Amino acid sequence: MKSAIILGTRPEIIKMSPIIRECDRLGLDYFILHAGQHYSYNLNKVFFEQLSLPSPKYNLGVGSGTHAKETGKMLIGIERVLLQEKPDVVLVEGDTNTVLAGALAASKLHIKVGHVEAGLRSYDRQMPEEINRTLTDHCSDYLFAPTERAKTILLGEGIPDDRIFVTGNTIVDAIYQNLERRTSNIERRTSNIERRTSNIERRTSNLEPRTLNLEPKRYFLVTLHRQENVDDPARFASILEGLDKVGSEFHLPVVYPIHPRSRKMMKKFGLKPRNLKLIEPVDFLDFLQLESNARLILTDSGGVQEEACILSVPCVTLRDNTERPETIEVGSNILAGASPDKILKYTELMLGRESNWANPFGDGKAGKRIVEIVTRVQG
Ligand code: UD1
Ligand code: UDP
Repeated sequence: MKSAIILGTRPEIIKMSPIIRECDRLGLDYFILHAGQHYSYNLNKVFFEQLSLPSPKYNLGVGSGTHAKETGKMLIGIERVLLQEKPDVVLVEGDTNTVLAGALAASKLHIKVGHVEAGLRSYDRQMPEEINRTLTDHCSDYLFAPTERAKTILLGEGIPDDRIFVTGNTIVDAIYQNLERRTSNIERRTSNIERRTSNIERRTSNLEPRTLNLEPKRYFLVTLHRQENVDDPARFASILEGLDKVGSEFHLPVVYPIHPRSRKMMKKFGLKPRNLKLIEPVDFLDFLQLESNARLILTDSGGVQEEACILSVPCVTLRDNTERPETIEVGSNILAGASPDKILKYTELMLGRESNWANPFGDGKAGKRIVEIVTRVQG
């Protein structure tokens, strides 16, 4: 059996990493096809280097564009590679344009498609991700639902039970595996067995909360990049005002590793947040460090809502809906939307909650389970 792992953006690289590691561990026949949707070093290559992932066999270099341009170029490029490589199964993860293009190209060639993180719904068709994830689910053969709730959604949309597998979310695996790697790195450094010579290590140590002059649990962490938030000048300005209020009300730094999309839009709209500490996007280990030491996280990211929940850090989501309602149910997360007053009020509310919820996203073995299922069903 030959598998193709198709990915193209930061979260896909991170969430596919446990699956890639498992394929390597078992010596399976697979290759990585990178669509090139993300290409900046700190959104792409840094993760391959830091997570010790093999380089993609193909990189389509599609780059940025309108939805149709990105997806169209990907479809053409992915079809060409699939015709040449003839894999038995294609794996995609999440809800980006790369995911839809990968699933669509493969299913039209009658190649089996496995969708990792299937069954998520925000029920908000304004979000490109909602279109991508729904269509991908409906042309997939194997749907890897992270939770029972996601499975129920898929069953409700008429997807047969025997195609759905509840596996947990691979983000739990990625966190556990990389927190372990970080601990062993720190041990190595302190015992002086290895010198800190590589760029990766230098970058990692440079950006530790300590060197940003941050004290554990004495800062807020922000990520904000979603199209419906940052491409709308009034909404983006309103959220930034809310974040400024949070910083000044609590007299704590608000750190924002800013996605290039948001940086571009901030410049275009002439927005100048007063109290935010803007930094470049950081690598995964640094980001986990920033997250786990934050007093509270404010975000519109899907992955970051999950990570906050798993790391026991309260989260305020800067959106009106979420496809991760499990986080709301367990009490780790709340939806604040874009109103400055609501952002401040909900931050106060979440700061008063105890962070003793259970992680609803699984036991950290999702990657192993997914690879085992694919190997079994494909024979
Ligand atoms: C994409 C996904 C989104 C995901 C996010 C992860 C879609 C529809 N959106 O959004 O679901 O949450 O990735 O981060 O697939 N840019 C760079 N360097 C890069 C990539 C992008 O500078 O490597 C800038 C470009 O100005 C580009 C803009 O970011 O126009 C948007 O990039 P794009 O890939 O279209 O969408 P994201 O906002 O990254
Ligand atoms: N992330 C990172 N560095 C950063 C910001 C985020 O490594 O500066 C990681 C984060 O840990 C999470 C993933 O990127 O695993 C989330 O990606 P993003 O928010 O871009 O996309 P989404 O999850 O919303 O699709």
